[in-house]
Amino acid sequence: MYTGEIVDFTTLDKDIQELIRESAAVREKSYSPYSKFKVGAAVRCTDGSISRGCNVENASFPASVCAETAAIVHAVSEGKKKFTALTVVADQENVKFTTPCGVCRQVISEFFGDNIPIYLTRSDMKQVLRTKTSELFPFSPFHTSDTKTS
Ligand code: THU
Repeated sequence: MYTGEIVDFTTLDKDIQELIRESAAVREKSYSPYSKFKVGAAVRCTDGSISRGCNVENASFPASVCAETAAIVHAVSEGKKKFTALTVVADQENVKFTTPCGVCRQVISEFFGDNIPIYLTRSDMKQVLRTKTSELFPFSPFHTSDTKTS
Protein backbone atom coordinates (compact mmCIF):
# COMPACT_ATOMS: atom_id res chain seq x y z
CA MET A 1 0.00 0.00 0.00
CA TYR A 2 1.24 3.46 -0.84
CA THR A 3 0.40 6.57 1.09
CA GLY A 4 0.98 9.76 -0.83
CA GLU A 5 0.05 10.82 -4.32
CA ILE A 6 1.30 9.82 -7.73
CA VAL A 7 2.12 12.75 -9.99
CA ASP A 8 3.71 13.23 -13.40
CA PHE A 9 7.36 14.26 -13.35
CA THR A 10 6.55 17.16 -15.70
CA THR A 11 4.16 18.73 -13.16
CA LEU A 12 6.85 18.98 -10.48
CA ASP A 13 8.74 22.19 -9.66
CA LYS A 14 11.99 22.57 -11.59
CA ASP A 15 14.11 22.25 -8.43
CA ILE A 16 12.47 18.90 -7.64
CA GLN A 17 12.94 17.73 -11.24
CA GLU A 18 16.62 18.64 -10.91
CA LEU A 19 16.88 16.70 -7.63
CA ILE A 20 15.32 13.63 -9.22
CA ARG A 21 17.71 13.87 -12.19
CA GLU A 22 20.63 14.04 -9.75
CA SER A 23 19.33 10.89 -8.01
CA ALA A 24 19.15 9.11 -11.36
CA ALA A 25 22.68 10.24 -12.20
CA VAL A 26 24.25 9.16 -8.90
CA ARG A 27 22.40 5.84 -9.12
CA GLU A 28 24.82 4.96 -11.93
CA LYS A 29 27.64 5.09 -9.36
CA SER A 30 25.95 2.42 -7.21
CA TYR A 31 28.29 -0.30 -5.96
CA SER A 32 25.89 -3.22 -5.82
CA PRO A 33 27.61 -6.39 -7.08
CA TYR A 34 25.62 -8.57 -4.65
CA SER A 35 22.04 -7.41 -5.13
CA LYS A 36 22.58 -5.89 -8.61
CA PHE A 37 20.00 -3.35 -7.43
CA LYS A 38 21.07 0.24 -8.05
CA VAL A 39 19.63 3.05 -5.96
CA GLY A 40 20.30 6.78 -6.15
CA ALA A 41 19.15 9.44 -3.71
CA ALA A 42 19.53 13.18 -3.34
CA VAL A 43 18.64 15.71 -0.69
CA ARG A 44 18.11 19.44 -1.18
CA CYS A 45 19.68 21.34 1.70
CA THR A 46 18.10 24.55 2.98
CA ASP A 47 20.98 26.55 1.49
CA GLY A 48 19.89 25.24 -1.93
CA SER A 49 22.76 22.83 -2.40
CA ILE A 50 22.30 19.18 -3.31
CA SER A 51 23.89 16.14 -1.64
CA ARG A 52 23.78 12.83 -3.47
CA GLY A 53 24.27 9.22 -2.43
CA CYS A 54 24.14 5.76 -3.93
CA ASN A 55 23.98 2.36 -2.28
CA VAL A 56 27.39 0.88 -1.46
CA GLU A 57 27.29 -2.83 -0.70
CA ASN A 58 29.68 -5.08 1.14
CA ALA A 59 30.50 -8.81 1.11
CA SER A 60 29.31 -8.70 4.71
CA PHE A 61 25.73 -7.70 3.87
CA PRO A 62 24.90 -5.71 7.03
CA ALA A 63 27.86 -3.44 6.30
CA SER A 64 26.08 -2.15 3.18
CA VAL A 65 24.95 1.47 3.06
CA CYS A 66 21.71 2.58 1.41
CA ALA A 67 21.53 5.50 -1.01
CA GLU A 68 19.26 7.62 1.22
CA THR A 69 21.55 7.27 4.22
CA ALA A 70 24.62 7.95 2.05
CA ALA A 71 23.09 11.21 0.76
CA ILE A 72 22.15 12.38 4.27
CA VAL A 73 25.49 11.37 5.82
CA HIS A 74 27.36 13.23 3.11
CA ALA A 75 25.29 16.38 3.64
CA VAL A 76 25.79 16.27 7.40
CA SER A 77 29.54 15.81 6.83
CA GLU A 78 29.43 19.07 4.87
CA GLY A 79 27.75 20.82 7.81
CA LYS A 80 24.22 20.66 6.37
CA LYS A 81 21.55 19.22 8.61
CA LYS A 82 18.38 20.86 7.32
CA PHE A 83 16.64 19.74 4.17
CA THR A 84 13.69 20.68 2.00
CA ALA A 85 13.29 17.49 -0.06
CA LEU A 86 14.53 13.95 -0.64
CA THR A 87 14.35 12.06 -3.93
CA VAL A 88 15.04 8.37 -4.58
CA VAL A 89 15.40 6.58 -7.92
CA ALA A 90 15.40 2.78 -8.30
CA ASP A 91 13.94 0.21 -10.68
CA GLN A 92 12.43 -2.63 -8.72
CA GLU A 93 10.89 -5.52 -10.62
CA ASN A 94 7.13 -5.81 -10.15
CA VAL A 95 7.06 -2.88 -7.74
CA LYS A 96 6.48 0.58 -9.10
CA PHE A 97 8.19 2.69 -6.44
CA THR A 98 11.06 1.75 -4.17
CA THR A 99 10.47 3.10 -0.69
CA PRO A 100 13.26 3.63 1.86
CA CYS A 101 14.05 0.68 4.14
CA GLY A 102 13.27 0.77 7.84
CA VAL A 103 16.77 1.83 8.87
CA CYS A 104 16.74 4.70 6.34
CA ARG A 105 13.33 5.81 7.60
CA GLN A 106 14.91 6.12 11.04
CA VAL A 107 17.82 8.12 9.58
CA ILE A 108 15.43 10.34 7.60
CA SER A 109 13.34 11.00 10.71
CA GLU A 110 16.44 12.22 12.55
CA PHE A 111 16.95 15.12 10.14
CA PHE A 112 13.66 15.66 8.33
CA GLY A 113 10.60 17.38 9.73
CA ASP A 114 7.32 15.49 9.49
CA ASN A 115 6.26 17.33 6.36
CA ILE A 116 9.38 17.41 4.20
CA PRO A 117 8.39 16.00 0.81
CA ILE A 118 9.93 12.72 -0.36
CA TYR A 119 9.74 11.83 -4.06
CA LEU A 120 10.16 8.25 -5.24
CA THR A 121 10.45 7.33 -8.90
CA ARG A 122 11.97 4.96 -11.45
CA SER A 123 14.86 5.75 -13.77
CA ASP A 124 12.39 6.54 -16.56
CA MET A 125 11.33 9.47 -14.33
CA LYS A 126 7.75 9.44 -15.58
CA GLN A 127 5.54 8.91 -12.57
CA VAL A 128 6.54 10.04 -9.12
CA LEU A 129 5.15 9.06 -5.74
CA ARG A 130 5.14 12.07 -3.42
CA THR A 131 5.06 11.23 0.26
CA LYS A 132 6.57 12.56 3.51
CA THR A 133 8.41 11.47 6.63
CA SER A 134 5.32 11.18 8.81
CA GLU A 135 3.71 8.85 6.24
CA LEU A 136 6.78 6.64 5.97
CA PHE A 137 7.66 6.63 9.63
CA PRO A 138 4.80 7.50 11.97
CA PHE A 139 5.41 7.46 15.72
CA SER A 140 9.09 8.16 15.21
CA PRO A 141 10.85 7.63 18.55
CA PHE A 142 12.04 10.91 20.13
CA HIS A 143 10.63 13.02 17.28
CA THR A 144 6.89 12.54 17.54
CA SER A 145 5.71 15.96 18.74
CA ASP A 146 2.00 15.11 19.06
CA THR A 147 2.66 12.51 21.77
CA LYS A 148 4.69 14.85 24.00
CA THR A 149 3.56 14.88 27.62
CA SER A 150 4.21 18.59 28.13
N1 THU B 1 18.58 -0.01 -0.99
C1 THU B 1 18.78 1.35 -0.96
O1 THU B 1 19.89 1.85 -1.14
N2 THU B 1 17.69 2.12 -0.72
C2 THU B 1 16.40 1.65 -0.66
O2 THU B 1 15.47 2.44 -0.52
C3 THU B 1 16.14 0.22 -0.78
C4 THU B 1 17.33 -0.67 -0.71
C5 THU B 1 19.75 -0.85 -1.34
C6 THU B 1 20.33 -1.68 -0.23
C7 THU B 1 20.99 -2.78 -1.01
O3 THU B 1 22.26 -2.31 -1.47
C8 THU B 1 20.11 -2.96 -2.22
O4 THU B 1 19.37 -1.76 -2.34
C9 THU B 1 19.18 -4.15 -2.15
O5 THU B 1 18.39 -4.12 -1.05
